[in-house]
Order: sequence, then structure tokens, then C-alpha cells
Amino acid sequence: MENKDIERVLISEEQIANRCKELAAELESYYSQFKEPLLIVGLLKGSVPFMSELMKRFTIPCEIDFMKVSSYVGTKSVGDVKINKDLDDTCDGKCVLIVEDIIDTGKTIKAVKRVFYNKGATDVKIVSLLDKPEGRKVDIEADYVGFTIPNEFVVGYGLDYNQKYRNLPFVGVLSPSVYE
Ligand code: IMP
Ligand code: MG
Repeated sequence: MENKDIERVLISEEQIANRCKELAAELESYYSQFKEPLLIVGLLKGSVPFMSELMKRFTIPCEIDFMKVSSYVGTKSVGDVKINKDLDDTCDGKCVLIVEDIIDTGKTIKAVKRVFYNKGATDVKIVSLLDKPEGRKVDIEADYVGFTIPNEFVVGYGLDYNQKYRNLPFVGVLSPSVYE
């Protein structure tokens, strides 16, 4: 084990790379039907390693941008998000592919998807490296998922615990000793 804080590796670096190749091929075939430009939007910070692994497999023209959002949980109506960093340019008339690290309750992507349609995007799709369906609280699914995982807290490959472990090249389960 490369990191003593990791109880076990859930998804290896090699598995992620292979899955990204498959996803990129699926996405390319989907986007080939559109004449509108493709804008890939990474949700900061967790999507960064996944987005870079995925986008280098694309052969179709695309632009990239980033957005940082935080969701209001509890009090407000489901799906309110605060935009902490917005896009640099308009996404009006573009196909938008939102890249996320993990979908848990679903609140973040549900709200973000609506934001992009309000901004005038022609088509909005979500690709998430991980999906924890057992955590879902709102009715939304990613359009493309890398791996479906059990309801455990994971870190690595962009995912953090208190801003740490994002740099790990694999997805692993954090040892309970770290947060107990
Ligand atoms: P939700 O789908 O709105 O609940 O939000 C998903 C967000 O919660 C992700 O973008 C992560 O930032 C965070 N998150 C959910 N589960 C995990 C996990 O197991 N490890 C690290 N972050 C997580
Ligand atoms: Mg996130």
C-alpha cells in the first residue's frame, strides 16, 4: 500500500485509464451528430484528473472551461447552487459536457444541469467518474458513468477528504482511523 491512510484500493489507475478510453469513444460517437461546438466543463476541484484523462482521448474539436459550485443542503428547495467560479465565456448554443468526480445525493448535478440550460446551452450531458446510487436523494442520473461504487467514503483521483488525497492515482477507501 502506497499510502497508510488508505484501507484498500477500490479502482486502480489502470482500470480508470481503460474505462476513460471506453467513455471517450462513447462520447465521441454521441457528439458526432451535432454541428454545435462542444464545451467540456469540469466541476472544480474533484474532476481535474478525470477530465484530463478523458479529454486527451477525444479526437473531435472541443473547448474546455471550469466551474466551481457549492450546494445548499437542507434548507432551500432541492438543487440550489451557489456559483463560486463561473465560466469564462458563454455556453449559448453549445453542447455542454459536465465532468464530475462523483454523484452522491445528486443535488449538485441536478442544479448545475439547470444552470447550463438557463445559460442557453443546446444540449447538456453529465459524465461522472463515480456513482454512488445508494446515496441518491433527488431524481437524477448521470448520462455516462465510469464506475458504480458502494456507499463508502472514497478518496483519490481528484476526490478529497478535507482537501487531501486528491493527488492519489487510484480511488481508495479511506481508513476510518483518519476521521475517527
Ligand atoms: P452530491 O451528489 O450533490 O451529493 O454531491 C457530490 C459531491 O459530494 C461530490 O462532487 C464530492 O465533492 C462530494 N462527495 C460525495 N461522496 C464523496 C466521497 O465518497 N468522497 C469524496 N467526496 C465525496
Ligand atoms: Mg465535487
